[in-house]
Amino acid sequence: MIINLENKIATGNHVLVVPVFEGEFKKTVKDLPKKISEFLAKVEGNKEFTGKKGEKIYTYVEDANLPAKLLLIGLGKKENFKYRVAKESGAIIGKNLKAVKAKEAEMFLPDEVKHLAAVFLEGLFLSQYEVDKMKTKFTKKEDLKIEKLSILTEMKKPEFEKALDRAKMMTETADYIKDLVNSPSNIIDTNYLANEAAKIAKENGYNVEILRKKELEKIKAGGILAVNQASKKEPGLFVLEYKGAKNKDERPIAIVGKGIVFDTGGVNLKPGQHMNEMHQDMAGSAVVLGLFKILKKLGIQKNVIGVGALAENSVGSDSYKPSDIITMLSGITVEVNNTDAEGRLVLGDGVTYSLKYNPKSIFTIATLTGAVYVALGHKYSGLISNDGKIRRDILQAGREVDDLGWPLPLHPEYKKAMESKIADIRNDDRETARGAGSSKGAAFIEKFVDKHDWCHIDIASTAFADMPKPYESKGATASGFYMLLRYLEK
Ligand code: BES
Ligand code: MG
Ligand code: ZN
Repeated sequence: MIINLENKIATGNHVLVVPVFEGEFKKTVKDLPKKISEFLAKVEGNKEFTGKKGEKIYTYVEDANLPAKLLLIGLGKKENFKYRVAKESGAIIGKNLKAVKAKEAEMFLPDEVKHLAAVFLEGLFLSQYEVDKMKTKFTKKEDLKIEKLSILTEMKKPEFEKALDRAKMMTETADYIKDLVNSPSNIIDTNYLANEAAKIAKENGYNVEILRKKELEKIKAGGILAVNQASKKEPGLFVLEYKGAKNKDERPIAIVGKGIVFDTGGVNLKPGQHMNEMHQDMAGSAVVLGLFKILKKLGIQKNVIGVGALAENSVGSDSYKPSDIITMLSGITVEVNNTDAEGRLVLGDGVTYSLKYNPKSIFTIATLTGAVYVALGHKYSGLISNDGKIRRDILQAGREVDDLGWPLPLHPEYKKAMESKIADIRNDDRETARGAGSSKGAAFIEKFVDKHDWCHIDIASTAFADMPKPYESKGATASGFYMLLRYLEK
């Protein structure tokens, strides 16, 4: 999309977008060039447009001195115009422009939007995302993405360009994460994700370690190896290293992502339709990759380690089996009583490997449990932690960027539920109790964090949307990305 700053309204066959705050119609109109304000004065007369959030009027204008079409969009009450409303309003404009097939448009940026211009534009850009990469000439619909947007604003050029840059970077990164998560596992496999890590490292000058089957066998990463056992493709573990802190020796924040490129459940095969979405089971590691795409560009002043634990949970004669006992990278033995509880196995090894980098705190991010959806629905990711402060901070960060998390408990009894009679721990407590599945999954991971401050983010409820927000599309959402980025930026 080409964006330019404009200082006068163009005439001719295109759309002019006028965002309006609720109850501010008169003022908005007054600020506009005379011809348009005269025209809009008539619109107000019929009271059908008050500027409520999402309200719109689309109209043709028969005047050679004006643009041929006007799109009025309500922004809601001025005092409610904060991060979420700004992002959603931008998206509502973007979707409406698509709906009226306006590939070129002009848009006013009201003064009161200035301070949120970056998220407002981000919402608009995000709204253009489509899952159509695999469509070809046979079925591909006409591309209705906005091609050119001219912006009329009082903002100073450098200020505007800073906001625009930020919006572009955020959108590129979120779209990148979504593409990875939306694509099936025959395309985005363990090799692909390992290559992406290498590519991102090269582009940004990060240190990177990539361990494949041979190296994982050498260090005895028994969790990742067991899960991947029946796959034709090699497992992997990547570690990206970003040094943004003033003190290069500052201990890093580790972010460890689950990268199961497909989760059949293994021998404990997933029932029916539940399996169809399981190419998204690498969303955690996609968020890690996305973060590393943008950390340097934004100049985040922290040292960060990003780990992706990559495997494919397939089913076949080589599969690991319920009742197997495996030895994890840490040396902890695990009774595998459910091959579908595979995420915690790869994450356990991922966390252990991250300890080599002496992290000051650890995040794990994963589509770990169906139970988190039962507990929280699609609005919240589950936050489970051994430390109150880190959990409060990440929750607050998420709240600020509309990427919500909510705490779930880590009770000693849930930890106890993961103990095994014959090994150190087991990966599912199914035979004794149901319930608190997300907490118990996290309790398993906690065995590997070795007293570090740690917070687990279960995004199984949020990574994929059936009821997308205005700036989302059906499918991948990039949840967790905004939350973690905000946390790192603060
Ligand atoms: N990948 C799934 C969790 C999941 C479910 C993600 C639905 C997205 C949507 C995970 O590996 C899994 O299978 N979890 C099991 C854990 C159980 C066996 C303890 C689950 O949630 O049933
Ligand atoms: Mg599973
Ligand atoms: Zn899984």
